[in-house]
Formats: sequence, structure tokens, C-alpha cells
Amino acid sequence: MIAERLSHHLPHIEVNPRILSALVCGSAVALLAVKWTRQRRLKQKLEEARRKREHALLQMEKMSLQFKQQNPSVQPDAILSLPLTELVEKLREGSLSPESVLYTYIGKALEVTNDVNCLTHFLPECVTQLQDMKKQKERGLLYGIPVSIKEHYNYKGHDSPCGLAYFLGILAEEDSVIVQVLKKQGAIPFVKTNVPQSMFNFDCSNPIFGQTLNPHNHTKTPGGSSGGEGALIGGGGAILGFGSDIAGSIRVPSSFCGICGIKPTEGRLSFSGIVSPTYGIKSVHPAIGPMARDVDSLALCMKALLCDHMFHLDPNVPPIPFRDEVYSSTKPLRIGYYDTDGFTMLPPCMRRAVHDTRKLLEKAGHTLIPFSPLRMEYTANELFLKGLFPEGGSTLLEKLKGDLIDPNLKPQISVYKLPYLVKRILAFILRPVVPRIANELKALCGTGSAKNLWKQHTEAEVYCQEFIAEWRKLKLDVMLCPVMGPAFNLGYLGKLLATGTYTVLFNILNFPAGVVTVTTVTEEDEAELRRCKGHYNDHWDKLIKKAAAGGVGLPVAVQCVALPWQEDLCLRFMKEVETLTLEKMRRV
Ligand SMILES: *[C@@H]1O[C@H](CO)[C@@H](O)[C@H](O)[C@H]1NC(C)=O
Repeated sequence: MIAERLSHHLPHIEVNPRILSALVCGSAVALLAVKWTRQRRLKQKLEEARRKREHALLQMEKMSLQFKQQNPSVQPDAILSLPLTELVEKLREGSLSPESVLYTYIGKALEVTNDVNCLTHFLPECVTQLQDMKKQKERGLLYGIPVSIKEHYNYKGHDSPCGLAYFLGILAEEDSVIVQVLKKQGAIPFVKTNVPQSMFNFDCSNPIFGQTLNPHNHTKTPGGSSGGEGALIGGGGAILGFGSDIAGSIRVPSSFCGICGIKPTEGRLSFSGIVSPTYGIKSVHPAIGPMARDVDSLALCMKALLCDHMFHLDPNVPPIPFRDEVYSSTKPLRIGYYDTDGFTMLPPCMRRAVHDTRKLLEKAGHTLIPFSPLRMEYTANELFLKGLFPEGGSTLLEKLKGDLIDPNLKPQISVYKLPYLVKRILAFILRPVVPRIANELKALCGTGSAKNLWKQHTEAEVYCQEFIAEWRKLKLDVMLCPVMGPAFNLGYLGKLLATGTYTVLFNILNFPAGVVTVTTVTEEDEAELRRCKGHYNDHWDKLIKKAAAGGVGLPVAVQCVALPWQEDLCLRFMKEVETLTLEKMRRV
């Protein structure tokens, strides 16, 4: 009745097939037009960012040339070869000017990026900072030291895109806390470095700035996500840099590029003003930290950053200063160690590095105690993947909507995009054939309800308690263990998220963990890699073998770990490993 009455008021539409087809065609054209406009706008945005970078690099070139012409007596090689602690000393006593150091590094960074494509931004404000600094009486612990920062650290007036079009062109209104503290200590941030798109990847390429290469071999990746930092420092274009790490993003590039780096406990250094495509991850702990050529640089940097200024700017940072007496102690240590986690295949050189280092430490009077990492497959799926992607990766997908997808990120993204049910069914079908991949797929379905998310958080806490109990039972001070490496061939890491197990373990546990380079790949290592089968001899093991092949001469590192908040002890252990390794090299 009502419907009948209403129908009187509605215009009577005769379904004319010609009108209908015109309507369909019209909508299709409109949709295409919208899509085309969006793609054009995206293309313009990316081109604009590249133009800006091109301009920045030209600016660096001009400044560096001009300085060289006006100061022919400055010897770049002498400056570039100084370790950080000596450079700091020379700047403080005035035998080197901060100008000569900054312009020398601008020139060198430019040379390295022309080689490996590691820079995203030049920060011309460094020149004004230099002028202002010279007027001040107070000289910080890092006075006159040029530093590089990973692209997602906010620096006033520049964007922090995370390799995504989504954040491109959004200029920071103020410096991140860490940049403020660095400036206060006299350090001069001068460039920003490249990352993989979204940073949730161990490679280092994005559709804006392209692929960063490994400075030791251009067919290899520098690793990621702090890959631009790794490549720049490894190539000699910076003496101190800053990365971030939620699964190994400081440690993997440090290992791949032959430098050292430390991932502190979450919250030890302020995360305020660091841009991320996802916030709210609770059971895998992110941290920012320094990367450098030697351990003393990392220690000096931590000492400089753990100051009242940071504690004041970010009251969430526990006001614990760096303990010099712990760093310089010579007390023998009880060191737990393992050479494999029993889950992810390690190229044999990385296991050899652990054993070579273990022997050196034993000879130096430390006690080494075998340790078995607990339940790695469970940790990889239930704690790592469900911890990072409890919502199945939808937050990341939001940030990638309408963006070009980098080839290194594509394998991951195609999985996140699958509907829940498809993931479950695929996991079920694949289980008998490739159980590890099936379990990964299942984990990438996420936790589901909020209740299950809480359950996941609880499981992660229980795991940490068990791990600490085991550590305590053995009365350990620190732990020596492998890190992924050597540098992989380009194009593999994006397919191998699981290679993160060696590093992500300490983001789950929230222990400080650092990487020290101890040796290089030998012909014997390479021959053994060819014979190596891994723990499962499946698709992943085979991929890792191919990825690591052709590595003779590349740097090989180990990982050093301590309990939460003991960054000073972790660094002391790293220093010990570094010193013993150098002594051994001198003897050979
Ligand atoms: C670089 O790596 C490739 C393997 O990808 C290897 O064949 C080549 O010999 C390496 N080059 C150098 C100079 O070591």
C-alpha cells in the first residue's frame, strides 16, 4: 500500500538498454579517469621528491667544491681516517676546525651515495648550526661531529616519508628529541639516509629513491631497514649514524656492511618524533640506536645521549646515565653462547664467527657456557609475526594504498592482501608440502579479537620470563650469538622475512643487542655453504643458500647481548670482542 503510494511520486524509469549501456560505459570511464588522475598525482609526487633530492645533492657538490678551493690545505683523507674518539679530541683542542670536518664528510657522503644510492636528504641547516655553535662557549661531547640520520627521524622543515608516498611532503614541525639532544651535544646532523618502503623489510629499496647497494659489492644488498645508514657508514661517508630496529633493522645492515651497531632496550633512547607506518605494537619492542665504525664510537654516543637534556625533553625515558665504570671494567664475564637457533639456516661463516670469537674469549679468561635458544619456531610465528601483524597487516596496507609497490615488498604485501579465509585454506593445503611456509601464512592471519591480542601479549611476557629464568640459572652476564649475514645478493631478502629470527628474538625479549664485525668470508666458508642443507632443507633454506652465495671477502659479524637496560655492559662485551679480534688480526 505504502509502496504503491510512494511509487506515484517516483519518476518512472524505463530500462532502455541504450541508456543502460551508456551509464555503464560512463561510470567505467569516470572510474578510469579517477584512477588515471590518482596515478598522475602519485607520479608527480614521486618526481617532485626526486627533483628535490637531485637539487640537494647538487647543493652538496657545490659546497664541497667551494670549500676545497678556498681551503686547499685541508687533507680530506687524514680527516676521514680518524676514528671518532680521536676526531672528537682534535675538534675539542682546536687542531681541526668543525668546518673542515663537516665539508670533508659532505664531500665523502656525496661520493658514497653516487656509488651506492644511500642518501635521501641533505640538511643544509647544518651550515647555520655550525655558525651558531661557534658562538657558544659550551662544547658538548660530540662537538663538531657530522652525523647521518635514518630518513624517518624528524628534522624540522624536512619530510620523514618511511619510503612511502603516504608521508611524502609532510614537513616536520620540530626536530625529534634525539636530533635535539645530538645538536645540544654539538653533533651536526647533515644527511638523511634511505630505507625500504614502509621499513617492514630487510632490504633497502623504495619507489621514491630506488635501491641502495652494498658498498663492498654492488650485486649485494646493504640490508635493512637502516640500509642507507649501513651503506653510508660502511662506505666511509659518515662516522656516526642513527638507525632504528624492530626486528633487526640496525643489526642486519651493520652485519651486511661490516660496521657495528647497537639496538638498545626499548625506551632507553627517546622515540619521540620518529615517524612509523604503525604504532601500537606491544609485544615486539622497537628501539632507535647508533651505528658506527667501532665500539668506542657507540659508547661515546650513548654516553652523550643519556644526559639530563634527553631526560628533560622526554620524561618517559628512564633517567639512567651511562655507567663508565661498567664499560671500562675488566672483570671476567660469564658468557652464554649458541651458533644456530635451529630454525633459520645460517651460512656456515656466521656460525664459524661465533666459534672463532668463543675461542678468543675463552683464551682471554672468560667463561663460556652453551645456551639453547628456546622454541624458535613458536617464537617466529606466535611472537614475531603475530606480534608485528596482529591485524594481519591491514595497517601497513592502508599506508600503501594507491602507492607503487616496491618489488622487494611485493611478496609480503601479496600475502597481507589475501582475505583471512584464503590464508587459512592455503595454509591448510600447504601444510603437508611446506610446513614452515604454511605456519607463517597461518600466523599472518593475525590474532583476531582483542581478547586474543591480550593473550598474545601475555604469551610474549611468559616467554621473556622463561628466557630470563634460564639466563639466571646459568648465571650469565652476557650472550654471544649469530646474526644473519653475510650480505645477500639483491632481490632475496624481501622473500625471506623469516631470516629475522636471529635478531627479532631480542626485540621480543627487549634485551639490548649489538653487532660487531669479526672476520670475512673465506673460500672454505663458500665451499661449505654449497654443501649446507639448513635445518629443514626446504624452499627457504634453498633461497638463503642462493642469497648468500658469492660472498668471499665480505664482512662477517657476531651478535652480543645483555639484559634490559645494560647497554653499557653490552657495549663492554662488544668492545672485548672487537679488541680480541683486532689483536688476533695483528698476530696473523
Ligand atoms: C660480488 O658478488 C658476486 C656474487 O653476487 C660475485 O660473483 C663477485 O665475485 C663479487 N665481486 C667481488 C669484487 O667480490
